[in-house]
Amino acid sequence: MRILVLGSGAREHAILLALKGEEDGHELFAAPGNAGIGEVAALVPTLDPVDPAAVTEYANAERIDLVVVGPEAPLVAGVADALRERGIPVFGPGKAAAQLEGSKAFAKRIMEAAGVPTGRATRAHTRAEVESALDAYGAPYVVKADGLAAGKGVIVTSDREAALAHADAYLGASPVLIEEFLSGPEVSLFFVSDGDTVRALSPAQDFKRAYDGDEGPNTGGMGAYSPLPWLAGAFGGEEEFVAEVTRTVAEPVIRQLDAEGTPFIGLLYAGLILTEQGVKVIEFNARFGDPETQVVLARLATPLSSLLMAAASGNLEDEPAPQFAEAAAVTVVVASEGYPEAPVTGREIHGIEAAEAVEGVHLAHAATAAREGALVATGGRVLNVVALGNTFFQARDRAYRAVDALTLDGSHHRRDIAARVAEEPSAD
Ligand code: AMP
Ligand code: GLY
Repeated sequence: MRILVLGSGAREHAILLALKGEEDGHELFAAPGNAGIGEVAALVPTLDPVDPAAVTEYANAERIDLVVVGPEAPLVAGVADALRERGIPVFGPGKAAAQLEGSKAFAKRIMEAAGVPTGRATRAHTRAEVESALDAYGAPYVVKADGLAAGKGVIVTSDREAALAHADAYLGASPVLIEEFLSGPEVSLFFVSDGDTVRALSPAQDFKRAYDGDEGPNTGGMGAYSPLPWLAGAFGGEEEFVAEVTRTVAEPVIRQLDAEGTPFIGLLYAGLILTEQGVKVIEFNARFGDPETQVVLARLATPLSSLLMAAASGNLEDEPAPQFAEAAAVTVVVASEGYPEAPVTGREIHGIEAAEAVEGVHLAHAATAAREGALVATGGRVLNVVALGNTFFQARDRAYRAVDALTLDGSHHRRDIAARVAEEPSAD
């Protein structure tokens, strides 16, 4: 197949690596891509991924068989609608269904209509409404911007002044959401859907805070691992957990969107918290998660293109359930100095070959460009080291050896990704 992937991050690099690794050789294209993506796909840097007409023209002229949309911005801009109108298969929901991610208020309404378990929330338009909602729910406070904010529109804090200041930054331009604080481990679970049938991928856990020990500001994600061995304790195992969330969350949401005339064709990302009162949804995204995709696809043992094409063309029912390797997968994000507040860009990266030489390791580039023979960082999250191992201990050891082989002045990364699941082998 001739496949075009829209986007320029490590998630898109991971998607392209999975497609590249299939037995059927595909012709791969990426717009705009980055330096690492350029090694697996033909880059189309002049194509604007958020311009519906331009993407459709390009896909048509280049006889693209399938378009895969990586980030949310093209979805919210209506790129998938334009492609579908032209009869070009696309993996990604239309503008209306993408509101599941684009508007937290829309997501709450759909969840309520579909009977999906989630925390209580209040939409506040004024300072006074914010204050009364904060006091009604009590600390810790959860304040969210009601729009796309690249994972950075949320604050969770026990400091009432900080919660108010966060709300003030958005009020006026848009209302804010004050939510009940939910306590428990978080799980990211992805579902592929053709608007009707749903197929779950293997769960992952993401590390959203910038620093070790879940300290510091929220980011797009600093690392992830998959699978989640501790699901065995609470749920009997991954299979039981996935079946329950499919039944209580994914299927009702997909049915509700279909009933409203806005079928969801693409990747439904359920951000879940396992509370003592059961599994609750904290957010939906309308696209693959980043960095979770890097670990989930590293373990995928069935062809990704078949799954995405079946969803895009409405044939998911005939597609076998995706299979995953038993292996442990860990990814660690290397970020630029100043990320997430004010990342310093343009600095040179060294040690790529040494990092990739570590057994079981590959790199997914998040924000890199080739400049005058050197590789430079062009954004906040720069590289993902992805490591596979027989155990989490082995995968982490490999990941951090590769991280340590990389140099980028001022960069930072977390040292505790997957630490709690990686038991050191005993001496005997
Ligand atoms: P979101 O952008 O909605 O995914 O929120 C980002 C992160 O903030 C989540 O991954 C959680 O760690 C945290 N968070 C969001 N909403 C809540 C909530 N209601 N209770 C506790 N933590 C939350
Ligand atoms: N890793 C969080 C996200 O993709 O939104």
